[in-house]
Amino acid sequence: MPEEVTNIQTLKFEPAHLNAAAALYVSAFTRPPWNDKGTVEQARKRLEEIYETRGSMGYVLQDQKSGEIVAVAIGCFESWLDFYNLKEFYVHPDRQNQRLGSKLLETITAEAFRNGARRIYGWTARNSGAEKFWLKMGFVPDSRDIIVCLNNPISVVDEPTISHLPAPSPSKDA
Ligand SMILES: CC(C)(COP(=O)(O)OP(=O)(O)OC[C@H]1O[C@@H](n2cnc3c(N)ncnc32)[C@H](O)[C@@H]1OP(=O)(O)O)[C@@H](O)C(=O)NCCC(=O)NCCS
Repeated sequence: MPEEVTNIQTLKFEPAHLNAAAALYVSAFTRPPWNDKGTVEQARKRLEEIYETRGSMGYVLQDQKSGEIVAVAIGCFESWLDFYNLKEFYVHPDRQNQRLGSKLLETITAEAFRNGARRIYGWTARNSGAEKFWLKMGFVPDSRDIIVCLNNPISVVDEPTISHLPAPSPSKDA
């Protein structure tokens, strides 16, 4: 039975959270199913870039007793299309399945809709636990859209270190 969310404070994401949010990012994504190889420094850069993007909006959850950041959500409003693009979302590995993700997502979605977003977009891997989480939270795959990708044909493209991209599954069309 999931625990009740207690002693947790919701704060607007700000630069003072970058270091802790980057460290948490690495601990959330360097384990299965993501197995990212990114460093805290790379994660910090990624979060900083999102934070500095025009229209950015994010929140963190902080444990009131320890002061530890236990969950992060950050993304940007895309004003032309009236949507909010949730770019990074993660919960401390020891605090998952305790409703922190739901709580943070509710905060972010309420804020996005209050600010005029008509939709909220997220991106995750098929058949992952995260996909189940999104579906539970009422998100649905957008059947009108596909994600397209072009690999650089001339350079050796290493697996990205920090991508959340699962290993490609063999294509039936290949
Ligand atoms: C995915 C993630 C954000 C979910 O946050 P969380 O706090 O663990 O989720 P909650 O406790 O709020 O769960 C809400 C619901 O989703 C379900 N759920 C959450 N994670 C799940 C999983 N891995 N597999 C199946 N269901 C899951 C819960 O069972 C719960 O369902 P219920 O309402 O029927 O009880 C969190 O597990 C996480 O940070 N994972 C690693 C990073 C990641 O995958 N981020 C998302 C990338 S797109």
